[in-house]
Amino acid sequence: TGEDVLSSVFQQLDVDDDRLFNITMTFLHEMWDGLNNYGHDMAMIPTFVRSIPDGSEKGTFLALDLGGTNLRVCEVNLHGDKTFSLRQQKYKVSDALKTGEATTLFDYLADSVDAFLTDSGSPNCALPPSLARRNLAEVSDEEDVPYIPLGLTFSFPVEQTALDSGKLLTWTKGFAAKNAIGNDVVKLLQDAFDRKNMHVRCVALVNDTVGALLSRAYTSGGCILGAIFGTGTNGAYVEDMASISKLGRSAAVKEGNLMVVNTEWGGFNNSRSALPSTPYDNKVDRESINPGKQAFEKFISGMYLGEITRNVIVSLIDAAPKPLLFSGHSSKQLNKQWGVDTAVLSEVEEAWEGIGRFAPEDTGSTAEKLEHIRDVIIKRMELPPDSVSLNDADVVRKICTHIAWRAARLSSCAVAAVLFQTGRARLTRGGEETKNTAPLVDEGKRIGVGVDGSLVEHYPYFEKKLRASLRVLVGEDVERRVDIGLAKDGSGVGAALCALVAYRQNMVKQ
Ligand code: BG6
Ligand code: GLC
Repeated sequence: TGEDVLSSVFQQLDVDDDRLFNITMTFLHEMWDGLNNYGHDMAMIPTFVRSIPDGSEKGTFLALDLGGTNLRVCEVNLHGDKTFSLRQQKYKVSDALKTGEATTLFDYLADSVDAFLTDSGSPNCALPPSLARRNLAEVSDEEDVPYIPLGLTFSFPVEQTALDSGKLLTWTKGFAAKNAIGNDVVKLLQDAFDRKNMHVRCVALVNDTVGALLSRAYTSGGCILGAIFGTGTNGAYVEDMASISKLGRSAAVKEGNLMVVNTEWGGFNNSRSALPSTPYDNKVDRESINPGKQAFEKFISGMYLGEITRNVIVSLIDAAPKPLLFSGHSSKQLNKQWGVDTAVLSEVEEAWEGIGRFAPEDTGSTAEKLEHIRDVIIKRMELPPDSVSLNDADVVRKICTHIAWRAARLSSCAVAAVLFQTGRARLTRGGEETKNTAPLVDEGKRIGVGVDGSLVEHYPYFEKKLRASLRVLVGEDVERRVDIGLAKDGSGVGAALCALVAYRQNMVKQ
């Protein structure tokens, strides 16, 4: 019956506690593989960031941020008292730029910085702004000309060789610009600045997760994990260098010395041996720009949740012998790849939770909520109004809830694995702690986690759902001590903090 088909769909989208535990164990194994050897999909990239800010850092820096919803140029002013101020301008990156020639994309980045410096008046950067406007041709060789130092947040997998250099391993999140993979992204950007005779120097390169970690540490005084749940998903954490075996032996690589590792957890379990793939997920993967890659990300992040939902909806419209949604009607919007944005799921769930619509004490009746969801569906999926019933609204609502819960539960596996790896937690299965008697690190203390991204910022109760599953994996005591804070503008602040380190290391000509 129709009911059976629906419950089988929901069942496929559920991840029970045992599965959650097994995924976490597989996650840990893939982390260890990545720490031991280069070339794994979960790349476990050493970032060369070795000190964590404490809030006393001071200075004004430019930051450029590519890889989230928007391209951003910011001027960040670190006040040195855990606070900062920031001026920023957002720019769109078109699909043509994302998939064209890399030089065109990097020229556009340089143009955006140029526009920011021109439009935003005189920036109070560490070095005189007027110099940014000077034509290099006018500057004699003897002149010791300062550059405006810029930190680049580049939210893609980059194998770093130093704080200010690293090769792009692969594109993710729909980017595919040609002639970039294998090249040093700092050089690509610097060449673009130089082509335009701009007096700006890219002195530091950070992933957005590293930015989130550093900025949360700056504002809150401590942080061990920075995680992004946005267009993509990823995490960076503070690791003991002795555990990063692939770094080999050197004076710095000894127990107790720390380095931030960018896990690139979006590429966890590309074999899908542990992940709960359904035919809807397989379709998303097959039709994506990077099939077989970023498996974990495709279950969790904002770029994909809408597309999974669309696949489920279309399959129910097509159900035989009788359609199970919209009396068998579809629409141009529903038939088109990426036709359902994750923001639609957000709107549906907001309507269901009564967020922003009813007073807190009056959350609205079920019928009112379903009416509202029906309106969202008609508008956002561009369906004829009489083809959408209240029952359809309820089915769509359940699909959204299942897909979001699954994303949050899987996300908790990544967080739990990092807590375990850093000695902050033991894993529990069915309420039983796994046999691990090693003493916990910082027992009883706050565990700082910085998060950013559209999903965690805007999706109703994403963090609450993640926390609920985290509790299952690490127990209530640890979960309660996990202090998750939004690292708003984290990428800008993180890039500025890295630029500061680079600046202090005298990498900037003064
Ligand atoms: C932004 C950061 O706030 O969040 C970006 O500045 C980051 O660096 C982004 O990539 C992630 O969120 P989204 O939803 O824009 O991908
Ligand atoms: C993708 C990128 C990663 C980034 C994440 C979040 O997974 O590969 O580098 O951190 O998206 O933006």
